[in-house]
Amino acid sequence: METQQKPLPSRVNQFSANKLKLGLFGSNCSSGRAATRVPERWGASWDDNLKLAQMADDAGMDLMLPIGRWKGYGGDTNFEGTTLETVTWACGLLAQTKQINVFCTVHAPLVHPVYAAKQFVTVDHVSRGRFGVNIVCGWNQDEFDMFGVEQREHDDRYAYGAEWLAAIKAMWEREGVFDFDGQFIKLKGVEADPKPYGGTRPLIMNAGASPAGRAFSTQSCDVLFRPLKSLESGAEEVRDTIAEAASHGREIGVYCNGYVVCRPTKKEAEEYHRYYSDEMADWDAVDHLIAINKINSESYSQEYFKAFRQRFAAGHGGMPLVGTPDEIADTLAKVSEAGFAGICFSFVNYLDEFPYFRDEVLPRLERMGLRTKR
Ligand SMILES: Cc1cc2nc3c(=O)[nH]c(=O)nc-3n(C[C@H](O)[C@H](O)[C@H](O)COP(=O)(O)O)c2cc1C
Repeated sequence: METQQKPLPSRVNQFSANKLKLGLFGSNCSSGRAATRVPERWGASWDDNLKLAQMADDAGMDLMLPIGRWKGYGGDTNFEGTTLETVTWACGLLAQTKQINVFCTVHAPLVHPVYAAKQFVTVDHVSRGRFGVNIVCGWNQDEFDMFGVEQREHDDRYAYGAEWLAAIKAMWEREGVFDFDGQFIKLKGVEADPKPYGGTRPLIMNAGASPAGRAFSTQSCDVLFRPLKSLESGAEEVRDTIAEAASHGREIGVYCNGYVVCRPTKKEAEEYHRYYSDEMADWDAVDHLIAINKINSESYSQEYFKAFRQRFAAGHGGMPLVGTPDEIADTLAKVSEAGFAGICFSFVNYLDEFPYFRDEVLPRLERMGLRTKR
C-alpha cells in the first residue's frame, strides 16, 4: 500500500541538512508536558503559541509537534486540560511562519478519512508544503467516551490506523473518481482534489511504541516518534526499526522525546528541576496519567513507571535534558550517535526558556556538525 508520492526534500525528513532534527513538543496544551503547580507553567494561549512558533522559525528549528488531547488529566491544575485543536493550530501557525514544519496530531478513529484528507491538503497548500501529520491510534478511553466511541482491541487500533492512512493516501494520489473497499472503511465514488502541495505529500509520523505500533510505522509512516528509556536501549530500537522498515523496502527516521531545563550552572538547572517536578509537582495528575498509561498503553514498562515517576511530572516521561548548555549539547550528540534522526522536547515555560537554549545550545550543535548554521 506504499504511496508513489514522496515527501518534499524541503519537508523535515531524513534528507534535510540538519543531522539531528529538533522540534518543540506540546505547546498547544496547558502546562505543556510538565505536570507542575509552579505559577510560571505554560498557559498555551494562542498568542503565546504564535510568538513561540515565530521565534522557533527564526531560530531555524525544524518542527513544532502538538499533543492530540481532548480531556485534562485532573489534579490541582487539570494538567493538559486546556488545549488547542491541532490541525487548526498548525494551519494558523503555518500561515504566519516561513520555514518551520508544523505537524498536527490526529486520532485516526475520531476523524472521518474523507474529511481528514481534505483538511490536511488544505493546510498543506496554506503552508506550501510544510505540514506534517502525526497519527495516533488512541489509548485513553476517557477521551473516546467524549465522542461516544469504544476503542478497538490494542492491535486492531493499528490495523484501523493503517487502513485510515491508506484511504487518505489514495485521496492524495488517485485521479478521478474511485471506490475504497477496506475491512473497516468503505468509501464510494470518492473525488479528492486538489492533491497535496507540489506533487508530494505531508510527512507521516506515528507515536506508537508497541510491536503493533512499530509495525504500523515501519510499513506506512516516515517517522516513528517514541519514548527513550536509555541511550543504549534506544540505539538498539533505532537499529531494529530501521531494519524492519528496510525489510518492507522503506526508509524511516526515528525520533525520541525529552524535556529541557538549561541553565548557566548544573546546580541551577538541577535545583529548578527538583523544584518544579518534585516539590511543586501536580502528583494527582501524574498518578492519573500513569494509571491510564498502565491500562491503555504498551509503550512503557511497569518498571519504567516505578523508576521514573518524577519524569512524568517533569516532561510526560520524556528524556531529561537538564544541565548547562555544554551538558545538553553533549547529550544531544549522544542521541544522534544512538541513531535518532530527531528529538522533540518541551520546557516548563517555552517562551521564557527557549531563547537561552537557542542562544547557547544551538550554536554548540552547529559547531559539533549536528546542525547547519542559521
Ligand atoms: C512520544 C509520544 C507522544 C505521543 N503523543 C500522543 C498524543 O499527542 N496524543 C495521543 O492520544 N497519544 C499520544 N501518544 C500515545 C501513543 O500514540 C500510543 O497510543 C500510546 O503510547 C500507546 O502505545 P502503544 O499503542 O504502542 O501501546 C504518544 C506516545 C508517545 C510515546
